[in-house]
Amino acid sequence: MVGSVEVDTLSEKFNGEVDLLEEFDPMAVVCEPLPPIVVDDGECVIGEAKTKTKTREIVLGRNVHTSCLEVTEPDANDELTGDKDAYMAGYPYNLDFDYGSLAQLQHFSINNLGDPFIESNYGVHSRQFEVGVLDWFARLWEIEKNDYWGYITNCGTEGNLHGILVGREVFPDGILYASRESHYSVFKAARMYRMECVKVGTLISGEIDCADFRAKLIPNMDKPAIINVNIGTTVKGAVDDLDLVIQTLEECGYSHDRFYIHCDGALFGLMMPFVKRAPKVTFKKPIGSVSVSGHKFVGCPMPCGVQITRIDHINALSRNVEYLASRDATIMGSRNGHAPIFLWYTLNKKGYKGFQKEVQKCLRNAHYLKDCMRDAGISAMLNELSSTVVFERPLDEEFVRRWQLACQGNIAHVVVMPNVTIEKLDDFLEELIQKRATWYQDEKVRSPCLSVDIGVENCACPLHK
Ligand SMILES: Cc1ncc(COP(=O)(O)O)c(C=O)c1O
Repeated sequence: MVGSVEVDTLSEKFNGEVDLLEEFDPMAVVCEPLPPIVVDDGECVIGEAKTKTKTREIVLGRNVHTSCLEVTEPDANDELTGDKDAYMAGYPYNLDFDYGSLAQLQHFSINNLGDPFIESNYGVHSRQFEVGVLDWFARLWEIEKNDYWGYITNCGTEGNLHGILVGREVFPDGILYASRESHYSVFKAARMYRMECVKVGTLISGEIDCADFRAKLIPNMDKPAIINVNIGTTVKGAVDDLDLVIQTLEECGYSHDRFYIHCDGALFGLMMPFVKRAPKVTFKKPIGSVSVSGHKFVGCPMPCGVQITRIDHINALSRNVEYLASRDATIMGSRNGHAPIFLWYTLNKKGYKGFQKEVQKCLRNAHYLKDCMRDAGISAMLNELSSTVVFERPLDEEFVRRWQLACQGNIAHVVVMPNVTIEKLDDFLEELIQKRATWYQDEKVRSPCLSVDIGVENCACPLHK
């Protein structure tokens, strides 16, 4: 297949080393998804791939890209990626994958314990792949190789725990601000680190309410601010306005050395860069860290994630560990060494352009689902930049389980991932419409009012339709 990764090459490497539209078009993606800037040893390299093998070097406090296996873009004429069909999932996991060629890896106990940029004494690792994957994300989020530090985590939660810990280490007396629709791992981090935490209100869309944010910042001006910014909330897929968050901080008198922003991009962190109208997540803005889950949009078969922060921050947090002959800057000790290889494989196979196509397809299908629901008289909402369709909670728990829907209060959602086809959505809709006819056949049982959850304009309850 054009753009595929030869598994022989992979195993060899492994074994050998032990147009902005005037009218908003939500499906519009960026014209050139390839991030342009990679500064490498003073040179600007665009779209090239190299495999580096240098002599082993251990330098604490600086990234060493020894034997990094860079991710390469598939051929430009690869029309296959992003166009495959598969099946439905209520949780945001991309189930459209085939990793059959990596099956042999199960024979190895691969562990990347320690710092990805410092080789430890344990030989069966996949750091070359890990650093290649990190470099790919660093390029996506516009931070130069020597300025970032990161690692492949076990999940998006670990990324949040790490990002917030870095913020806390930078500002030991900082207050954590997070919208009330942030993932529970953010509040868990506050409890674990015994941090003062202020919950900020949200708009109906699920986005952070910056008026409330301002009101909560002002009485606490004497303390630095650590902010969790959602790049896609769990339930409504809402994207916090990063620029407005920064502007609010600045207007309240917080200079850039008095706040730390962690961007939780668990699901949408990898979709947003490809959506034209989306606010840009980039280290050119005053942010401290970004995390994303690897098993969501990327489509890794095991839970994993990517965490990237600024190297200056990590130097303050890390400790050298003689037993590892490495540096301790991660949350976990032992780390899944298989995950970076699966991530590296899929990044090579799809490339930036493949992800762009998948994003476009998900947004298109999500709009289709939302429109069909509204046409059928079902309350439903879809945020502009999202593929998460929020609708009334089905009355029948068996239906919820069968379609693996995630529910909260009166609402449920479907996250339209690349494996969710139009045919699958049609099957789902047909069954939902049929079932609703039975749930609500008795005049006494009414569909719930969702005006508070998704706005009057999206509510189709008997009062608002
Ligand atoms: C916004 C957000 N952050 C963090 C997480 C946690 O990710 P993980 O399940 O990979 O730990 C999720 C999971 O759904 C999420 O939606």
